[in-house]
Amino acid sequence: MKGLILSGGYGTRLRPITYSQQKQLIPVANKPILFYAIEDVIEAGAKEIGIIVGPNKERVVETVRATDWEAEIEFIYQDEPKGLAHAILVAEEFLDEEFVMYLGDNILREGIVKHAKKFKENNSDASIMLTEVENPQQFGVADINKDGTIKRLLEKPKVPPSNLALVGIYFFKPIILEACKSIRHSWRNELEITDAIQWLIDNRYNIGWTKVEGWWKDTGKPGDILEANRLILDDIQTKNEGTTENSRIIGRVVIGKGVEIKESFVKGPAIIGKNCMIKKSYVGPYTSIGNECVIEDTEIEDLIVMDKSEIMGGGRIIESLIGRGVRIKRKAELPNGKKLIVGDNSEIVG
Ligand code: G1P
Repeated sequence: MKGLILSGGYGTRLRPITYSQQKQLIPVANKPILFYAIEDVIEAGAKEIGIIVGPNKERVVETVRATDWEAEIEFIYQDEPKGLAHAILVAEEFLDEEFVMYLGDNILREGIVKHAKKFKENNSDASIMLTEVENPQQFGVADINKDGTIKRLLEKPKVPPSNLALVGIYFFKPIILEACKSIRHSWRNELEITDAIQWLIDNRYNIGWTKVEGWWKDTGKPGDILEANRLILDDIQTKNEGTTENSRIIGRVVIGKGVEIKESFVKGPAIIGKNCMIKKSYVGPYTSIGNECVIEDTEIEDLIVMDKSEIMGGGRIIESLIGRGVRIKRKAELPNGKKLIVGDNSEIVG
């Protein structure tokens, strides 16, 4: 089985962070979101992976190539995000055998091994993954017959027939290419994968489905990224490779090499990357701090701080996404409990 991972798109709902980096590269618990997808696909047995990239491809290519993967990875260029079925057509040459398509902004706790196994055992032409959600209007939704077979799939229906949403991970045989060629553009002017699978259903192909038991996150908005960060941090194990001085560390905390923590209080679950300086600060639960960051005279909690950022005298900052290379410095009094989404290389001086 091959893997096809999607990492194009503009990530408009995550601006300003996505002006300078692809949303799939935003770190969750200090690992780019995209890496969770690559790891899952490799774990499910893929030896060849195609990654669909868009116009901002350089950083994605560079970041992925900087790691040694146990699979061959090639990049496939999609000039415009014209839908998931369009991405499949762009990758037509690569898709000469069965494959798993994984949206690079999805994170799934349980991985995909058991779902891939079911797809193979049932010898289905396609297999989808479903999960119960509270807001099915925002996803593809499945209508299931009494006998458990899929009746139809609807993309973002106003009146959903069920609360079973399509997770952004799909298993296909190459027949999906014919389906993608046979459908028309949707109201949002995209070639929808949901319509392509519906084409398979209408043409009596065998479509399976499996249910996701653990948590699943589609990280489209800042709140989703922070939620994914919390969910991943809930499972981390303590590891301290740094040095601490007059500080209190409680709960599960990962502290990287070269980190110095002075006169501070760190309360896990939290992760601190390499070569950071934490001084006279409080780092509260569900915080991920990247490499080479400085946190001084500041209280942070439920936060993602990306590499090379400095927060000095920042007061109390919560539930925020702080980009790479950001400088936050306070000269005057700022109100407490700030919530921020700060793009890369920004400077905030209070
Ligand atoms: C896409 C699919 C949708 C699916 C969702 C999962 O939506 O079209 O069916 O439920 O991914 O992440 P989009 O992210 O393109 O709005």
